Amino acid sequence: MKVRKAVIPAAGLGTRFLPATKAMAKEMLPIVDKPTIQFIVEEALKSGIEDILIVTGKAKRPIEDHFDANLELETNLKEKGKADLLKLVEETTDINLHFVRQKHPLGLGHAVLQAKAFVGREPFVVMLGDDLMDDEIPLTKQLMNDYEKTHASTIAVMEVPQEETSKYGIINPGEEVSEGLFNVKNFVEKPKAEEAPSNLAIIGRYLLTPEIFSVLEEQTPGAGGEIQLTDAIDTLNKTQRVFAHEFKGTRYDVGDKFGFMKTSIEYGLKHPEVKQDLTNYIIQLGKELADKNPPIEPLKDEVE
Ligand code: UTP
Repeated sequence: MKVRKAVIPAAGLGTRFLPATKAMAKEMLPIVDKPTIQFIVEEALKSGIEDILIVTGKAKRPIEDHFDANLELETNLKEKGKADLLKLVEETTDINLHFVRQKHPLGLGHAVLQAKAFVGREPFVVMLGDDLMDDEIPLTKQLMNDYEKTHASTIAVMEVPQEETSKYGIINPGEEVSEGLFNVKNFVEKPKAEEAPSNLAIIGRYLLTPEIFSVLEEQTPGAGGEIQLTDAIDTLNKTQRVFAHEFKGTRYDVGDKFGFMKTSIEYGLKHPEVKQDLTNYIIQLGKELADKNPPIEPLKDEVE
């Protein structure tokens, strides 16, 4: 069966970004001029996804409004002859989106469970707004290509520094069945570095078979007292094969403050409107900082 549907959970509390996320979902935080959730929606569409469900929480209004028509704004831009801006605004309203509410933020697994009726008996993808992925073929499409061959759930993973395993779901890889595609012995949510079975971390793209829902319905809270999607995938892996797909492109981690700032700068350096000014600014700032703070320490980790 073809993969047609995507679920984008956006109902977390976003505590790492307080106070910005007190009244607004973190998925609405912009990278230069675009909310992160729009990048995710665009990746879904580029991958050939036809139907998208966004799981929202308390701060759902701005997300719904962002993808809704705004007649007042559109009329204003038309009257002022701002065709370029009008095009940008209209691009976000032509997309067919559905919304469902997660009433309490009980965890990512619980957020995905809210998509059960929308998904039905089809395979589907889960896409998190925390990670922006850059590669020639969108990562979601790469997972969909795997599915055509395996007809099995496939989770995107990437190497992370060993000392950071406690921030991620980590896989215990089995044999590599084809290039970059692994069997998985088991999945562990947020293991300590010394207990982690590998440094292959689950990043924010999952292709799942619908059997995940019956597992999620039985899932008890795990790490952090939350209903964890990783735990449910580990259980699913005991009854049907789940693969891990190693992503080789660039991942931008926008879920934490420093990652978010680095991503903003990297995207700014590619943005036609600001790239020249930003480049000049960074060079100038770099010189000033180097004069004030020699010697400059190497960065602890690069943008992964
Ligand atoms: P995170 O754990 O990164 O998001 O969940 P969070 O809980 O909002 O962030 P912090 O750690 O407090 O800063 C990953 C994704 O799962 C969604 C989040 O919106 C995010 O996209 N999520 C998480 C839900 O939709 N519901 C939940 O109950 C938990």
